[in-house]
Amino acid sequence: MPDVEQKRNLGFGLGLRTAHYETILAEKPPVDWFEVITENYLVPGGKPLYYLDSIRVDYPLVMHGVSLSIGGTDPLNLDYLRQVKTLAERIEPAWISDHLCWTGVNGINLHDLLPLPYTQEAVQHVADRVKTVQDFLRCRILLENVSSYVTYAHSEMTEWEFLSAVAERADCLILLDINNIYVSAHNHQFDPLVYLNNVPTKRVQQFHLAGHLNLGNIIIDSHGDTVIDPVWSLYEAALRRFGPVSTMIERDDNIPPFAELLAELEMARQIAGSLELAA
Ligand SMILES: [Fe+2]
Repeated sequence: MPDVEQKRNLGFGLGLRTAHYETILAEKPPVDWFEVITENYLVPGGKPLYYLDSIRVDYPLVMHGVSLSIGGTDPLNLDYLRQVKTLAERIEPAWISDHLCWTGVNGINLHDLLPLPYTQEAVQHVADRVKTVQDFLRCRILLENVSSYVTYAHSEMTEWEFLSAVAERADCLILLDINNIYVSAHNHQFDPLVYLNNVPTKRVQQFHLAGHLNLGNIIIDSHGDTVIDPVWSLYEAALRRFGPVSTMIERDDNIPPFAELLAELEMARQIAGSLELAA
């Protein structure tokens, strides 16, 4: 697989969800690209791959994984990585991403995206593992900032310093989830603009936008509702800093009819279109 092209802008995309397969194939809606959850297609055949191959004919795809556990202490799962590589060779995604987190220990998958301690030791640990993954897949990967509800007393730096340090040391790219920044800023009481303004512009390849669940003292990253106005404002600030970056809306719960997601995506297009962005 060829190296990813840094700062490649795919435009405005949506997460591919099974409820919308038939609509997409029948109507070929005006979406620039789709993001697919990698683990849903690590199968030898059957309906998932049939739909994926059919949709790939008309749309660029990117692969988004949830179980790489790049920050974990178990050895990297080479069997999983081989399956990821096989899928990538099949659908030729524009890029491959996963999360800056850990998902389990001692072979147990906790099925959650758990935050890391922000220490120099963790930067080196994650960067070494990213380099191994990138050598194996023969492309740079994107790492996404996760939302979090707890922090570690022994952290030595901020989350944005940690994310930036990992990306620089591993020479990987960043998937910046704007909603996750908003969620974590609320939960940990930091300024989301300070976060944005301290992430290196050259490394940000993709944005995520999503809705969340506000319980008052804490916000849960639910992906079950529409994007709220303060997150749209933060998106605008992100566009001003990072320029035109591939943007997509993530919806994993309370999935609405496809037309509703298209309308929400149009909001992102309008915000980006209203700004004079330097490429
Ligand atoms: Fe995300």
